[in-house]
Amino acid sequence: MIANIGLASCGIAAGAEDIQKALHKKGIKTKTVGCIGACHLEPIIEFKKEDYETIIFCSVKTKDLSEILKALKSGKLHRKILAKRKDGKEWYPKVKYIEDICFYKKQQKILSHRCGIIDPADVDEYVKSGGYDGLQNAIKMKKEEVIAEVEKSGLRGRGGAGFSTGKKWSFVKNAKERPFMVCNADEGDPGAFMNRILLESDPLSVIEGLTIAGYAINARQGIIYIRSEYPLAVERLKHAIKNATKKGFLGNNILNSGFSFDIEIKLGAGAFVCGEETALIASLEGKTGRPHPRPPYPTDKGLLGKPTVINNVETLACVSLIMAKGSGYFRKFGTETSPGTKIFSLSGALKKTGYIEVPFGIKLREVLEIADVKEDEFKVMHLGGPAGSCLPKELLDLNLDYDSLKSVNATLGSGSMILLNHDQDMVEFAKNMMAFNVSESCGKCVPCREGTKRMLELIEKILRNDGKPEDLVTLEHIASTVKDTSLCGLGQSASNPLISILKYFKGEYIDKLQGAISIANDLAMYRIIEVKCTGCDKCSEVCPMKAIRGKKFEVHQIDEARCIKCGRCSKICPVKAVDLVKMERAI
Ligand SMILES: Cc1cc2nc3c(=O)[nH]c(=O)nc-3n(C[C@H](O)[C@H](O)[C@H](O)COP(=O)(O)O)c2cc1C
Ligand code: SF4
Ligand code: SF4
Repeated sequence: MIANIGLASCGIAAGAEDIQKALHKKGIKTKTVGCIGACHLEPIIEFKKEDYETIIFCSVKTKDLSEILKALKSGKLHRKILAKRKDGKEWYPKVKYIEDICFYKKQQKILSHRCGIIDPADVDEYVKSGGYDGLQNAIKMKKEEVIAEVEKSGLRGRGGAGFSTGKKWSFVKNAKERPFMVCNADEGDPGAFMNRILLESDPLSVIEGLTIAGYAINARQGIIYIRSEYPLAVERLKHAIKNATKKGFLGNNILNSGFSFDIEIKLGAGAFVCGEETALIASLEGKTGRPHPRPPYPTDKGLLGKPTVINNVETLACVSLIMAKGSGYFRKFGTETSPGTKIFSLSGALKKTGYIEVPFGIKLREVLEIADVKEDEFKVMHLGGPAGSCLPKELLDLNLDYDSLKSVNATLGSGSMILLNHDQDMVEFAKNMMAFNVSESCGKCVPCREGTKRMLELIEKILRNDGKPEDLVTLEHIASTVKDTSLCGLGQSASNPLISILKYFKGEYIDKLQGAISIANDLAMYRIIEVKCTGCDKCSEVCPMKAIRGKKFEVHQIDEARCIKCGRCSKICPVKAVDLVKMERAI
């Protein structure tokens, strides 16, 4: 019997190393594997006996081991059995297969299928499970054919912007100088850990993708830029690179193809802005990690002035899959304009934290089902970290893909999903996101350096109940100025959480303005939009000033002279007919 121990960071944090030692003492052979996604159930141990189905145990403690081994010997059920795998003769007939349990039912694990199954640094196991098929196919093709195949797959970069990977590669097709190929593993946004899990659990899929990209763009040198806060991922990458080189998948004359490619690991010091591609290049060159204006784009003038292609970790894992199984296979998943799957990291106010891999186009409502979050407990999903946006309950039927998100002014970001419940104060949440941007702004340009600070001050003022209505107007003005005039993506998107919270949860800001409101009567006012008003009378029932007139089922009106702008009518109106008219419109 052999026990696969989940030893990604989540498993280690939950005590899996002690379990491994205890199993060794009991004479059980173990194998180190990565994470299967259900981080909340770590330590996860999978037992495989001869050619029988693998039995998966979860939340295992060292003290459970004797009982578990006894149960396995006698074939009896045990309370810590989670599921089993379809990989052998039937063993525990009453236990469900892993793909039938709620957390996995809607997932499609085409990228993360090896995570938690193979030893992350074992090239032979990787090859046995279809690994390096992509590279073997690629080196038999012409470089431009590889680029065309990736373009045909519709793959869009998973680092945030969603730019076509094939198109980006084609920009260096006719480069006069040899390009560099860089993998961006900086992953610094709060709530994001998809890239880390992939690197800890299946680093060879990223190394293979980087090698294929290197071949396609005629690079000789690949670089993985990774934050030093990811020591386990770095260690696994180092082992995997060493083993792949030994087996002829890296280095000189790869698989006798005449193509040579090496990969070097470069550590970042953890600044979020160094994930931005021009700052990343500055950091690689040993300079302070600060962005510079584009153009020139890195594909024209990048590392050491040479053309440079930068792709995200998950993008490169997709490349391995596309070249192994073809662009047609990849397009079977997801939507026409967002093909494939996406790995999301789940965190926040929920019990089932971890990562999930789902096809693009899945509905927000379905993600709640996977995460086992009840609709009435759900308040909002924050997608995409400090550059991202909030998706409230009204958007439960929204499809999660690039275009559907764009239609509601939201972005996917790189894949962090923070789920929040009704205990979460959204103004407090906006403050946390803004505080992150303030501390991570590199300070090079004024709008971002000063604007993020001023916005944070205003949010803090509102949280202290010192805010005035005109502060909301000022916040919106600063937010749009910082968005329009900042130099890089950090500043350009720093206002996104604030703006989306203002859009969907304005009432929470307004609630905190009570007391300070009457001072600024002329700066903003509430109006009832006639075409929307159904005359339900709910607003006049809650108005403390009796400022709302109108017969039941007829359009209502607000008496500006009486209104103290408490916002209660706006909050209660079921058809969102009460609008806050801001200064510029009011004048
Ligand atoms: C502030 C900031 C941080 C970023 N951090 C990352 C990151 O950690 N990883 C990443 O792949 N892209 C990050 N990006 C996006 C990169 O600049 C770049 O677009 C991406 O690496 C390109 O890869 P892709 O085409 O495969 O998505 C960041 C952008 C900004 C503005
Ligand atoms: S937008 Fe912010 S992070 Fe980007 S260059 Fe300007 S100050 Fe630096
Ligand atoms: S904002 Fe307050 S005072 Fe004004 S109409 Fe609405 S409930 Fe009445």
